[in-house]
Amino acid sequence: MKPVLWITCKLPEEVVAPLKEWADVRQWPTIEKNMPHMRLQEVIKEATIIWTIMGDQMDRELLASAPNLKLICNLAVGYNNIDLVAAKELGIAVTNTPGVLTDTTADLAFTLMLTTARRIVEASDELRSGQWTYWGVNQLAGMDVFGATLGIIGMGRIGEAVAQRAKGFDMDVIYHNRNRRMEAEEQYGVSYRQLDHLLSEADFIIVLTPLTAETKGLIGSRELALMKSTATIINVARGGIVQEDALYEALLNNDIWAASSDVFEQEPVSVKHPLLTLKNFVATPHIGSATLRTRKKMMEMNIQSMTSFYKGEPIEHRII
Ligand code: DGY
Repeated sequence: MKPVLWITCKLPEEVVAPLKEWADVRQWPTIEKNMPHMRLQEVIKEATIIWTIMGDQMDRELLASAPNLKLICNLAVGYNNIDLVAAKELGIAVTNTPGVLTDTTADLAFTLMLTTARRIVEASDELRSGQWTYWGVNQLAGMDVFGATLGIIGMGRIGEAVAQRAKGFDMDVIYHNRNRRMEAEEQYGVSYRQLDHLLSEADFIIVLTPLTAETKGLIGSRELALMKSTATIINVARGGIVQEDALYEALLNNDIWAASSDVFEQEPVSVKHPLLTLKNFVATPHIGSATLRTRKKMMEMNIQSMTSFYKGEPIEHRII
């Protein structure tokens, strides 16, 4: 009998079709809406392999209700949506997609830094709504990125790719990481700082650390108060690392200059979210890895994992 492979989102037919040769493939049917948790609770009972996206909360209770589940392939490099401790205890392997989305996510981090610094969203909105009626000396004046100090929180692969891009903009790059990264210091000319020092020195701060028990709420009112009033913070990692209520207050009171985020505590974010009322806040809907080429590579990596599992070989790209 073929193993049941449940895919929790709608993937292109050319990706799914070859899997049907060896698996009984069942798939969420629409791109209009993601699979609700209630449906996930049902399908998990049937699955041997489940192909998940980061919105799927794979908690202990859910995993414990899956008698046949052997493998979770997460279509993301981050895996904070999966209870790894529970998965390990239950003998369920978990895989992700490291490496292939590094440059694409670094590009978005840089895009958000430039967009926010140069007030591109505000400028475009003003033009389209007919407010470009004059040339003013300080009209839409932003901040220079070239030559500024960039602080990277979380110096992993994506941090290094951002540092590499920053060299081309003649930026001084400082970083904070759980462990000092001597190789990165040598290769990219970046310097380590304690978090508080990074916060007070940087003109731009890019948050790239994974969401863990230690990083949840890492940037709150105290940390934002350490930043320069001319500084900008950009989060392309996970919602919940920067406290949204504290960020709202800091932006509203102009304690910091601007912020942007690709990620939110609740995704999709409500259009009524207070942050979205602020002109000095730029938001994107979690598109860090969203290019056609990278998404294809991510799917291919997940397929390598499930194929190796099916063939009884060591599971590729395995986290646990
Ligand atoms: C990831 O892979 O973790 C990204 O956030 C998805 O875009």
